[in-house]
Amino acid sequence: MPLTHPDNTPPPHRSEVAVNPIFAREPLHVPTYDFPAQGTDPEVAYQVVHDELMLDGNARLNLATFVSTWMEPHANRLMAECFDKNVIDKDEYPRTAALEDRCVRMLAGLWHAPDPHHVVGCSTTGSSEACMLAGLALKRRWRGTGTPNIVLGADVQICWEKFANFFEVEPRYVPMEGDRFTLSAEEALRRVDENTIGVVTIMGSTFDGSYEPVAEVCHALDELAARGGPDIPVHVDGASGALIAPFLDPELAWDFRLPRVASINTSGHKYGLVYPGIGWVVWRSPDALPDELVFRVNYLGGEMPTFALNFSRPGAQVAAQYFTFLRLGFDGYRRVQQECRDVATRLATEIAELGPFELLTDGSHIPAFAFTLREDAGSYSVFDVSAALRASGWLVPAYSFPANRTDLSVLRIVVRNGFSHDLADLLLDDLRRALPRLEAQTAPARGRESAGFAHGAGSHH
Ligand SMILES: Cc1ncc(COP(=O)(O)O)c(C=O)c1O
Repeated sequence: MPLTHPDNTPPPHRSEVAVNPIFAREPLHVPTYDFPAQGTDPEVAYQVVHDELMLDGNARLNLATFVSTWMEPHANRLMAECFDKNVIDKDEYPRTAALEDRCVRMLAGLWHAPDPHHVVGCSTTGSSEACMLAGLALKRRWRGTGTPNIVLGADVQICWEKFANFFEVEPRYVPMEGDRFTLSAEEALRRVDENTIGVVTIMGSTFDGSYEPVAEVCHALDELAARGGPDIPVHVDGASGALIAPFLDPELAWDFRLPRVASINTSGHKYGLVYPGIGWVVWRSPDALPDELVFRVNYLGGEMPTFALNFSRPGAQVAAQYFTFLRLGFDGYRRVQQECRDVATRLATEIAELGPFELLTDGSHIPAFAFTLREDAGSYSVFDVSAALRASGWLVPAYSFPANRTDLSVLRIVVRNGFSHDLADLLLDDLRRALPRLEAQTAPARGRESAGFAHGAGSHH
């Protein structure tokens, strides 16, 4: 059974695409599922693929994803120039390797590493791979004798569930309770023991955009160690927030300023403002990454240390990340992220003023917020609201929360670079227009079974 979207099961009548007369070429059928016996003219092949992709959603109207959907034309040009470079081949592409190294040092500086020039870190495909690597380093550093466990909030992204499953670490989730949708220091402390490899804290929950109390968790673990208890490191999953907080909340100590923070990851392709395909992980010092996890290969010429799940990866994303750091600088990032926060908080306020909605968060942490329907809102569900917005082209996901708040279903809006106040006004207009129709319903038309893609949020455990 191939791993495809359920909508993609091959209907028998769509086993071929007819080229003539659509593209006025030689009569030809292009197979959809069978491997083509012959080649196709590049113009025709391009048109066939292009036409099918027209039916994908409009990326800029996708308010579900955290991933960048706009870059400057210069970035496009630079990426096209680097399409043929493989980031693993540091000997053949030493300048790409140098750019990667500089990005790591820049991030280490932003995150207040004690000595940014002596951290270790690398680029990855995204935060999922970065989290796997950080989790593996924690597991290897652990010296317990029982079954290793990791403590995390029920709001973690699905990549942590994968980590625990793939690498056989017992996940100890702190469930949500009432209005607490994140990990708390007290609840984390109740679950740790001498077999805990680490505690994961999130800067920017996938579920509602809120920052977890990293400093409180660290202080609680400091006290535990001071009392003679286990000395447990913390990893910060800053997939989104690690490139928001340094610019917008410089006073907030969530990073390497806290001595207990061993490693931090982020997605270059989220608020790092690069197209999909890049993440970063940085360890506070070389001893936080056990050397035995680093492989050295020499079959590309030269001796290359690598710590990654993938081998070959595109170099273009690394060049694009370095370009964006140069292009915007600290002040540029601050302005882009501040604009996103301004749009998010304004949109959240106006949605709350519409009447039927209640905010869970207001966009003042990462520029993403979740809202639900008031109990007296009428006979429609958040899933109906999502479908109504979909009819106007907006992708606003609706999904239910994990334990112990599976009763709660929400809508979430992620504001990214390129989602302007003007677009927010258009979204509000469409939402306002949809409400009378929804209010005329006598019963909810859709339940949680209609939940679509929510970028790794959803009740997965
Ligand atoms: C907190 C958090 N961690 C990890 C991930 C996974 O990141 P990626 O999609 O870059 O693999 C996400 C994605 O939304 C996230 O929000």
